[in-house]
Amino acid sequence: MKQHLHALVAMALAAGSGWAQADERGHLRTPMSPDYSNECASCHVAYAPGLLPAPSWQRLMDSLSNHFGTDASLEPATQASLTAWLTANAGSGRRTGAAPPQDRITRSAWFEREHRRIAASVWQRPSIKGASNCSACHRDAAAGDFEDDRVVIPR
Ligand code: HEC
Ligand code: HEC
Repeated sequence: MKQHLHALVAMALAAGSGWAQADERGHLRTPMSPDYSNECASCHVAYAPGLLPAPSWQRLMDSLSNHFGTDASLEPATQASLTAWLTANAGSGRRTGAAPPQDRITRSAWFEREHRRIAASVWQRPSIKGASNCSACHRDAAAGDFEDDRVVIPR
């Protein structure tokens, strides 16, 4: 496990920035914006900005009226300020990679790699309800904490 972490850190360092705001413990230390918690955490956890590259956040914020089958529209001023905050704190470097399909965190190459040992039947458990429900297993996901020795997979 330690070996694995060190490999990740080495990769992030090699990439220059890697996880833009990550320390070596899988922790994305972005200071959370109060607006973000109010507007983007009512239907799911507030995804840390470092989990997606800036072009993905830009596209997601430009299409909130048609957001994964729901309407997540915001007041124009809030939309503009949150877009600026998300893109300024977005992930960069090899770790975050290119924009994933559908701009989904859960379709990112790094995400699939980190979670490759989790079986399809586990994602479908009623206690988990899918990969996008980070906080089912990463209790402090809302604070950007994905440290792998604190993960608990619920039954
Ligand atoms: C009205 C409910 C609602 C609101 C408000 C909302 N979302 Fe979502 N969001 C969803 C749904 C539904 C999904 C798809 C979840 C799934 O497929 O499991 C989603 C998925 C996402 C994903 C992709 C997750 C993945 O699978 O990798 C991102 C990123 C995201 N939302 C960002 C935001 C941002 C940023 C805001 C605030 C501007 C926001 N959401 C507000 C309902 C909402
Ligand atoms: C079914 C439980 C589960 C869900 C849901 C889940 N994860 Fe994970 N995640 C894990 C496990 C288990 C690991 C540890 C993998 C390993 O190292 O063996 C992990 C590892 C990670 C890591 C690497 C941590 C490190 O220390 O390097 C990140 C980052 C991460 N997850 C982010 C997310 C995000 C973001 C979401 C939601 C979009 C999510 N995870 C949803 C179980 C889950």
